[in-house]
Amino acid sequence: MKHITVNLENKSYPIYIASEGWSQLSRAIGGKIKGNKVLVVCDENIYPLYYNSVKSVLISMGYRVNPAVIPPGEVSKSFDKALELYTHALEARLDRSSSIVALGGGVVGDLAGFIAATYMRGIGFIQIPTSLLAQVDSSIGGKVAINHPLAKNIIGAFYQPDAVFICPDTLVSLPSREFATGMAELIKHAFIADPDFISWLEENMIALISRDVEALSSAIHRSCLIKTGVVEQDEKETGLRMILNFGHTIGHAIEAATGYSKYTHGEAVAMGMIYESSIAMKMGLVNQGYINRLSDILRRAGLPTQLDTPAWGPIVERMIHDKKNVNQGIVLVLPTGYGKVSIIKDLNPEQVKQMLQ
Ligand SMILES: NC(=O)c1ccc[n+]([C@@H]2O[C@H](COP(=O)([O-])OP(=O)(O)OC[C@H]3O[C@@H](n4cnc5c(N)ncnc54)[C@H](O)[C@@H]3O)[C@@H](O)[C@H]2O)c1
Ligand SMILES: [Zn+2]
Repeated sequence: MKHITVNLENKSYPIYIASEGWSQLSRAIGGKIKGNKVLVVCDENIYPLYYNSVKSVLISMGYRVNPAVIPPGEVSKSFDKALELYTHALEARLDRSSSIVALGGGVVGDLAGFIAATYMRGIGFIQIPTSLLAQVDSSIGGKVAINHPLAKNIIGAFYQPDAVFICPDTLVSLPSREFATGMAELIKHAFIADPDFISWLEENMIALISRDVEALSSAIHRSCLIKTGVVEQDEKETGLRMILNFGHTIGHAIEAATGYSKYTHGEAVAMGMIYESSIAMKMGLVNQGYINRLSDILRRAGLPTQLDTPAWGPIVERMIHDKKNVNQGIVLVLPTGYGKVSIIKDLNPEQVKQMLQ
């Protein structure tokens, strides 16, 4: 079992990557779950697949376990679902010393984490991420949130879990498009921080997409190390953590301009990384070889690298309203070489649009 410690000023906690599956759960996090009552939050897809495995382990460790099942998808990151979960927590008589376990993708992690952060001003919180995106990205770093009807992830907190338990076996049941969306973040980590990991991905892509558990465990471990390293240096996203947004300024704008329905988050980020790299090329920061190599890896992972019908007007319009922008200019995280990026501020929207056309 691989293991990473996240070292933060006020709190440190472990991430376990268990290539041997659920049997390793009690050894890994047994001592990390606070209290003796646990509310396991999962969605309707995850409940029939993995709830019983987790429940049996928790019961064998002496915990009293209750499930809270939400509908799958982004719609569940709502005030309504939060209210339902507070009700579940009260009915299960969770107290200050109890814990919430998030068993699922990023939606479950963000929502359950938000409840853990706010119920009785904060109770125990364990992440058991089951989607690739959650395993390499959303379960690490402590950002928890729900959506407001006017803006995504706008009501939230920084609330670090007590432990993260990753079971790569769960990826076998993940739908391919969801798998690819997680691959976009994993590939992003390699391109922002680790040139050797880029070569490793090129060599191991077939094993990864055929969901080989050994290959997945290694890739998840390397990817988590990169995200952890960034979060440790800038927990509250005041500077460096912004580099994790490579591909995201344009990616978010693509998602918004296409009504959050045409592309998954990772698909939009994949195209965002290519378009942001082509801006970097026009600014002389990287060459065509960089873009070719990135596109090749993204395509092999099952991701798109360009829009069918690019409409740059509305996309740049959305980029202007990105929350990273401080004044009028656009902020982009641009590559400057393999495994290297820079935060470029105050770009002129008109020039950005021209470079994209
Ligand atoms: N907190 C952060 O730092 C952070 C970072 C990135 C993304 N996010 C958030 O994460 C969310 C997206 O996460 P996601 O992509 O995991 O979406 P998700 O939670 O909606 O999961 C995607 C789909 O896959 C299903 N699923 C998950 N694991 C499965 C498995 N093992 N087998 C079968 N089906 C499975 C889910 O039921 C769902 O239908 C967004 O809300 C986003 O805002 C948060
Ligand atoms: Zn992302």
